[in-house]
Amino acid sequence: MKKTWASIFFSLHFLCGTFLLCQPALLAQQKEETAPQKETTIRNLTRETVSYSILRFDRDTSPAKRSLKPDGLDRWPCKGPLDITFKRRNETIDYRLDCGLPYTFRYTENDEIELYSGSHSLFGVADLAPFVPTSMSVVEKMLELAQVDKDDILFDLGCGDGRIVITAAKKYGTRGVGIDIDPERIEESVRAAKAAGVEHLVEFRLQDVMRADFSRATVVTLYLLPESNELLRPLLDEQLKPGAYVVSHNYSIPGWEKKEVAYLTVEDAAGEEHTIYVYRK
Ligand SMILES: C[S@@+](CC[C@H](N)C(=O)[O-])C[C@H]1O[C@@H](n2cnc3c(N)ncnc32)[C@H](O)[C@@H]1O
Repeated sequence: MKKTWASIFFSLHFLCGTFLLCQPALLAQQKEETAPQKETTIRNLTRETVSYSILRFDRDTSPAKRSLKPDGLDRWPCKGPLDITFKRRNETIDYRLDCGLPYTFRYTENDEIELYSGSHSLFGVADLAPFVPTSMSVVEKMLELAQVDKDDILFDLGCGDGRIVITAAKKYGTRGVGIDIDPERIEESVRAAKAAGVEHLVEFRLQDVMRADFSRATVVTLYLLPESNELLRPLLDEQLKPGAYVVSHNYSIPGWEKKEVAYLTVEDAAGEEHTIYVYRK
């Protein structure tokens, strides 16, 4: 019972905005008129069509109206900020968006539509989670719980800046592969691996994890959203060898309850609590 409540608490806690992952769209700084043309993208990860209107300061005299279907993606070339308006029940929501950044309609924990910053903005690729790095104290704990050593091969699915793979290599001599869909993240990871002197032990791949081969993994780490873990579960079932560990930050893997071997709540340096789930296939 205790565990169930803790799980619920941390899921809600995570979803409701402590993390960048779920920050509602923030007011943008006015960009200079001379800025090169970029693109703001808006993705719909809800199960319903979302209607909104949008006004680009650099070119529109009146707002454009749009209906965005589930899993649809709108691209708005721009040079300056954009104002977006959408309806939630009887309420009208207005945000100012940054030109050049991705945004996503998702549900809040109350099942209401909200516009969040972050997404990878690609068609036909599951948006498993925006980039939010795991705090280093949590990374250390995840690796301890998985008991990684130099004989392990660790895959971080959605590796962000590579910190989990790099820390495992540096501290335990573990070989690792980080996979991410965002080229910026992969570049960052490669640079960080060189700076840490572990480039001979690690590899970073620009790839959709839903199409990746991670069957060599003895340890898999995850920091994705609950629905993403569910999406990934059949691949974990199919690819991982018996005995492989899966360590997930903040979210459980629905359907893998019987494989759970440890569960821990830790505090990061800022006093935020995080849950770590450990599974063994
Ligand atoms: C919450 S971050 C976690 C980063 C890192 N694992 C950590 O714990 O510090 C999730 C990462 O998943 C990546 N991602 C989202 N969808 C993906 C996909 N379909 N394939 C690969 N990576 C994806 C994002 O770009 C982002 O860097």
